Amino acid sequence: MTTHLPGYFISFEGIDGAGKSTHIDAFGQLLKDRYPDRDVVMTREPGGTPLGEQLRALLLDAPMNLETEALLMFAARREHIAQVIEPALSAGKIVISDRFTDASFAYQGGGRGLSLEKLDHLERWVQGRSDGSLLKPDLTFLFDLPGSIAEARRSKVRAPDKFEQMDLNFFEKVRQEYLRRAKADPSRFYLVDATRTPEVIWGDLQSLEIQL
Ligand code: TYD
Repeated sequence: MTTHLPGYFISFEGIDGAGKSTHIDAFGQLLKDRYPDRDVVMTREPGGTPLGEQLRALLLDAPMNLETEALLMFAARREHIAQVIEPALSAGKIVISDRFTDASFAYQGGGRGLSLEKLDHLERWVQGRSDGSLLKPDLTFLFDLPGSIAEARRSKVRAPDKFEQMDLNFFEKVRQEYLRRAKADPSRFYLVDATRTPEVIWGDLQSLEIQL
């Protein structure tokens, strides 16, 4: 347990078009069925609070300086932790977030080239706890697939937001940073081969034993 809090924190990550959104609600329902006495809180980043959702609208639409973008991502995250994540984990709840800090390292760091050292500072500032630990997910599902397959999937769905308009090279860099982080912290990450069909992926997620 990363945080020493009684709850359990799960994040879902992957490049746009990897298919994480197809599974996240079903996975929340699976945990509710499996642990009927535990509350499950579903949330997302950027967002998760009224202020965070306002910041999300700006972040996904308005062009801005890269450092401004990273700071706003972490500002939204600070609010999200204070208002939603930490109280829920303190109360023993299960929190499932559609993206968390790995996305900042992957998109602002890997994709757009912000120094990882600056992101480390922001992470320590925003997620540092009084006992010296960092508030991090206990488990992170990384939906992994080549950027070209994700691009083909995205083009079938809807109008792209600011990030989804980026080119293949950007998404390959985002993917590589996600994979680097997964390799550096294998006990937290569960790698999902997202090239498979949704049915096969769902079978994989269902069979996973989680020690809450
Ligand atoms: P996403 O989670 O894919 O939501 P939707 O399925 O509604 O498109 O969109 C959020 C976007 O924000 C995604 O492109 C990744 C980006 N993002 C960052 O660049 N940095 C971050 O720290 C976070 C949390 C998200």
